[in-house]
Amino acid sequence: MVDFNELRKDFPMLNGKIMQKHPLVYFDNAATSLKPYQVINAEMDYYCNYCANEHRGDYDIAHRVDVEYENVRNKVAKFINCESREVVFTSGASMSLNMVAHGYALQNLTADDEILITDAEHASNVLPWFKVAETIHCKIGYIDLDKEGRVTIENLKKALNPHVKIVALAQVTNVLGYSIDIKEFAKVIHQNGAIFVVDGAQSVPHMKVDVKDADIDFLAFSGHKMCGPTGIGVLYGKYDLLDKMDPLMTGGGMNTRFDTCGYIGYQYPPLKFEAGTQNIAGVIGLGAAIDYLEKIGMDNIEKREKELKEYAISKLSKLDNIIVYNATSESGIIAFNVKDVFAQDTATLLNSYGVAVRSGNHCAKILNEFLKTDATVRASLYFYNTFEEIDAFVEACKKGGDFLDAYFN
Ligand code: ALA
Repeated sequence: MVDFNELRKDFPMLNGKIMQKHPLVYFDNAATSLKPYQVINAEMDYYCNYCANEHRGDYDIAHRVDVEYENVRNKVAKFINCESREVVFTSGASMSLNMVAHGYALQNLTADDEILITDAEHASNVLPWFKVAETIHCKIGYIDLDKEGRVTIENLKKALNPHVKIVALAQVTNVLGYSIDIKEFAKVIHQNGAIFVVDGAQSVPHMKVDVKDADIDFLAFSGHKMCGPTGIGVLYGKYDLLDKMDPLMTGGGMNTRFDTCGYIGYQYPPLKFEAGTQNIAGVIGLGAAIDYLEKIGMDNIEKREKELKEYAISKLSKLDNIIVYNATSESGIIAFNVKDVFAQDTATLLNSYGVAVRSGNHCAKILNEFLKTDATVRASLYFYNTFEEIDAFVEACKKGGDFLDAYFN
């Protein structure tokens, strides 16, 4: 059995080092997670003990970098169940999605085609597709959300038509936190002859994701939301799709040769997509983060977050000043408002009690029209959060209408 309270010792941010009046209650994990010493130390080890470039040097230290770097690629492959050559290191989920939009969609779609998304997607899974549409004049279609805000297989089927070539969806949405069964969706999308791009930014850190079993075509995720460093992420792509894809960036490391006639020979994937010096420390840190999460167990993490979420919802639902928008969602994300209070004011008040949450539209700017509110407050949980922290958060929520508290706490 995992002692989640004991794990908190691994996180410097949770160990009272921060100068603030109240102990930190960090509920902004959907924006970024905290980092354990294991990850911080792995990055420091690289910088202190074997700092060299990757795939370029002919000396022992450079060889060690290559081995460690490629070991992390193998680790990621095992973590999501794919081949190592299908794992591309990127700067994060946003870059991964942009790579698919520019490298695959722009090359393979025409004005007659359609890309399907939903109102619940955040900017990184909307704007790259808008750019594609702007360039090739293809259509962006929307799968209707059901009345709770979920993406259902029935509504997917209604939106699909022979023009749809790409369906791009978050496995877990970043405001309402609803999840979809990517295996079931992939089957229907493939029957329509389209490919399925999954934004895993809010799912991969929290549950086991098996790309082979689900048979998805692309998966994008970020290291920094799963205890890893910022500036590192992954694009998984089926090898034959990666092979057909154009690199978004060219430069050193991704070519085999070039000449004065302008010829460029590309490396095979994944190196074809890793131009220039990579975020080597980030890759090393990501490897340490995966080790850390796997030691806890992804199923244990998912279960823990569900328990925390259910506890929070049961307490919040007893308060008559709180509107929760996603009480039944499967993830640790709670989107809410204090009645008649602007979301940012609520976040400021919570901050005065040491509770860190996000407020606003959370980069999902179309969703607010659906929710019929200008902004929401989002509390997002991770495995290291505690029931006591939820109690403190709920107590602060009770004072939701009293802004003056923010000045006197
Ligand atoms: N997409 C991230 C969030 O939801 C940044 O906060």
